Amino acid sequence: MCGIFGIVTDKEQLLGPILVEAARRLTYRGYDSVGAATLNGSKIDLRKDAGRVDDVAARYNLAEMTGQRGITQLRWATFGEPSQVNAQPHLDSDGDLVGAHNGNVVNNVELRQQFMAEGLLVRSHNDGESCVHAVERHLNRGHGFIDAIRLAHADLQGDYAFVIGRINEDCLYAIKKGSGLVVGLGEGFTCVSSDLPSLLPLTRTILRIQDGEIITLWPDRVELHSVKDGSPIAREPETVTQTMEAVQKGGYAHFMLKEIHDQPQVAREVLHMLQGSPDVQPVLDRIAAARHVYFIGCGTSYHACLAGAVYFGQLAGKAVIPVVATQFISQYLPAVGPGDVGIFVSQSGETKDVLNALQPAEQRGMTCYGLANVIGSTLTKTTAAWLPLCCGYEISVPATKTFTNQVVTFLYLAYRLAGRDPRELDSIPELMEQTLALAAPQVEAITPSVNAWNDLYCLGYSATYPMALEGALKLKEITYAHCEGMISTEFKHGPLAAVTKGFPVLFIAGPEDVPLIVSGINEVTCRGGRAIAIAQADPRLEANASDIITIPVAPPQVSSLLAVLPLQLLSYYMCVARGYDPDFPRNLSKTLTVD
Ligand code: AGP
Repeated sequence: MCGIFGIVTDKEQLLGPILVEAARRLTYRGYDSVGAATLNGSKIDLRKDAGRVDDVAARYNLAEMTGQRGITQLRWATFGEPSQVNAQPHLDSDGDLVGAHNGNVVNNVELRQQFMAEGLLVRSHNDGESCVHAVERHLNRGHGFIDAIRLAHADLQGDYAFVIGRINEDCLYAIKKGSGLVVGLGEGFTCVSSDLPSLLPLTRTILRIQDGEIITLWPDRVELHSVKDGSPIAREPETVTQTMEAVQKGGYAHFMLKEIHDQPQVAREVLHMLQGSPDVQPVLDRIAAARHVYFIGCGTSYHACLAGAVYFGQLAGKAVIPVVATQFISQYLPAVGPGDVGIFVSQSGETKDVLNALQPAEQRGMTCYGLANVIGSTLTKTTAAWLPLCCGYEISVPATKTFTNQVVTFLYLAYRLAGRDPRELDSIPELMEQTLALAAPQVEAITPSVNAWNDLYCLGYSATYPMALEGALKLKEITYAHCEGMISTEFKHGPLAAVTKGFPVLFIAGPEDVPLIVSGINEVTCRGGRAIAIAQADPRLEANASDIITIPVAPPQVSSLLAVLPLQLLSYYMCVARGYDPDFPRNLSKTLTVD
């Protein structure tokens, strides 16, 4: 996820420190390059490069930059490698416009060819530059700035927000389409940023921007226009009175609930990233040719490895060994050698058990890849290549959005390895939104009765088995109740003995597994137990289960991913009803750097 920030003031002044601080506040989004531009009269000062904020700021002395207007951008590479030329902001052909974007322009390749054919000077491969040229081309044709942005909006496909300015003017322009954008109004300045928390140290007077709105930022006011017809939009600013922490929670009571609801958007982000990533094909080529493939992780990340192994087997016919990192060392390390591939999965990228497995595997010649959320973590620095989870900060100790993006990534890779069109997965974010909306009231309704128990089982089969394990882990982690996840067919081989009147057993039923799950349900209900099914609407389940939590219709693998969302919600509601804090469960830590 990139981040943009722009500021317009009433006179030339030192803007460098403001831009560097704003960039620092956006680093949580993940980035590999940093840039800043200031505009003053007829001059643009542009400094940028690949690297961390502090490195680039020191190397290019960003703190000394002055101007009446300024833009900063943190770039996470999708189009074009991380490099000085691909870093943002970008100039137009003759250097009188400068702009930067956040998001993905999916027709970037075609647009660059058009711009070059039209004689525009294209310097980079980056889609942020295409936003600048898209405006430039329409300004060159004689349109005013707002109309040029409207026409650029018609040319630029994808989700993005950008900010742009021209020499010899007093204002900056910005537009929002799909990516976040918030405006701030202060004494003698206005500003715009990818998110609200990054504006709050500057001002608490803000304007929330909707998709399809063009913003003109002046030193003392802001104007909004509709991208549809250019008509002005009236909107009163609002004052943010909440604490920074409450703002960071996005209006939710806890980070966990916010992060559960972040899942559709971060799934969108990771799918965009994967579609543009140059690292995907080489990783798949190595996997296809590998002697053995291992997916290695701990806790929730291990459950994602299990799901990935199911998808690779079912969709691509590729056998994968999913294994807990410590067991990998004791069980498989002696067999590991060149020709083997391991994907090491860790949200934090710092889990010691995972790093302990990585080093000897590399020494034995295994090609080691990483899947991590925290950019700059040890895992991302020590693997041959790594893919980001694109989740932004995950603050709550129970992993939610990082788990689902691990699963989405594995599903995407399995589709690609199978030669299937991964655009079939583009419906995932919307299906997740529908699942949350559909499941929340159903889950809330069963919470009090389930919460009366301190022992539960959560059963799945095939692609839903890893989700049963993950649901059980979430329940254990924050409700402190005992919940065991297992394959549904194993329940009759022992645990069935635990069933008494009303004993709750959660069954996740994939669309292809309903008959088998119905057998399991009946084994529980005929002994007086309560069988709660999580599944697509199905008359066979409705006729047999005690309760059913309905999720939307989707193909089996996608359906398995959706099924974990009601379990996250159930654990959250049970935890809060028990009076516990879901974000900081007792005895646990977000990053486990110990043996
Ligand atoms: C998940 O809710 C837990 N916090 C825990 O199981 C976690 O997934 C595990 O410790 C591994 O962490 P990692 O993904 O950062 O490596």
